[in-house]
Amino acid sequence: MTVYELIQKRRTIRRFQQKSVPKDLLERCVNAARIGPSGANLQPLEYIVVSEPEQCQQVFPHTAWAGYLPDWSPGPEERPMAYIFILVNREVRANAPMDVGIAAENITLVALAEGVGSCIIGSLDHDALRKVLAVPKDCDISLMVALGYPAEQPQMVGMTGDSIKYYRDEDGTLQVPKRALADVLHWEQYSDDSKV
Ligand SMILES: Cc1cc2nc3c(=O)[nH]c(=O)nc-3n(C[C@H](O)[C@H](O)[C@H](O)COP(=O)(O)O)c2cc1C
Repeated sequence: MTVYELIQKRRTIRRFQQKSVPKDLLERCVNAARIGPSGANLQPLEYIVVSEPEQCQQVFPHTAWAGYLPDWSPGPEERPMAYIFILVNREVRANAPMDVGIAAENITLVALAEGVGSCIIGSLDHDALRKVLAVPKDCDISLMVALGYPAEQPQMVGMTGDSIKYYRDEDGTLQVPKRALADVLHWEQYSDDSKV
């Protein structure tokens, strides 16, 4: 599969099979994040991988899921089997949101290439997780990627109207609206001068 095909195939997964994710794959995910692009090559990111069942149980309550699906979060039989936390070491750089985003995408794609689905999670209880993960003072938790073999197959759909909210259809399949290419791609200039 080409990288383009993998990117088209990737959808956020929020329901997971209860089957462990191999540690060597988790390590390769972090390695792919480690060697990714970094502004000024400062490389301020560090990672905490959680894969032991007891530690997974400690993490889950401090994560928030699917804001557009009211009152839903993964049930006990569909929770992630591993988590990769992306930390920013403030001693190296105060804030590195772009490095973090690139790292998260590298993790998702390396995992998906081996059949493992993921959900990037930004809604985290930072104070609680700092304690669970023993994060030192000079590091901030930025994003987390939850991982596991998929137990759902969300689909990408074109947007109808203005809503970007994902939803479950009558079969329970998650439908994820995407803006049309023609609405976001501008060749050479955004618009002719008369509209600026
Ligand atoms: C920076 C960032 C933060 C996100 N935070 C959450 C989150 O806290 N909880 C969640 O369920 N999904 C979260 N997501 C997943 C998005 O909801 C998802 O990417 C979006 O709905 C599009 O779906 P797709 O990834 O299948 O294209 C986040 C994604 C990104 C990039």
